[in-house]
Amino acid sequence: MADDPDRRSFLKSATCVVGGGIGLVAVAPAIRLVLDPTNQQTVTTPSDPIDVGAAERLRVGPEWRKVDVIAPVVHDAWTTARNVVLGAAWVRRSADTKIEALSATCPHLGCAVGWDLQNAGFLCPCHNSRWTANGQVVANSGPAKRDLDPLPIEIKDGRLQLTWVRYKLDTGSREPA
Ligand code: FES
Repeated sequence: MADDPDRRSFLKSATCVVGGGIGLVAVAPAIRLVLDPTNQQTVTTPSDPIDVGAAERLRVGPEWRKVDVIAPVVHDAWTTARNVVLGAAWVRRSADTKIEALSATCPHLGCAVGWDLQNAGFLCPCHNSRWTANGQVVANSGPAKRDLDPLPIEIKDGRLQLTWVRYKLDTGSREPA
């Protein structure tokens, strides 16, 4: 039988296609394993309320007190971490039942917001944004575009239960990140 170059070329291509397909099927699970969990949300912020201390330690009055917000457990795609510091919050109890919390994360670029005794308000040391004692942004004080972010908080069984929310930075409106 004559050696037909077209036939030979077709067989070569067909062999490559079939071989490549079989190879791809064989390695696909390995590729998936290597890439997983690309494009998936891997680290989640705990949405359950977090215990930030005994309510009785918070005196009734106008002063704010800073508390660390520590999640007992955080899961990501591969690991489970315990006692993870998520950030901090300013908390005050202006009446027996009225309790408020503000995130200590600066809404500009995320630095830690502190209390400025001299001006009786909040101050971010990174770019000098200022807020009033109620957390309202002071116009033209710095680059922060919004008030400090309020966080849900309640007293349950004598304990302060705060829900941590991370908001998008450097925006005028408040959107969860
Ligand atoms: S990070 Fe707070 S003012 Fe820039």
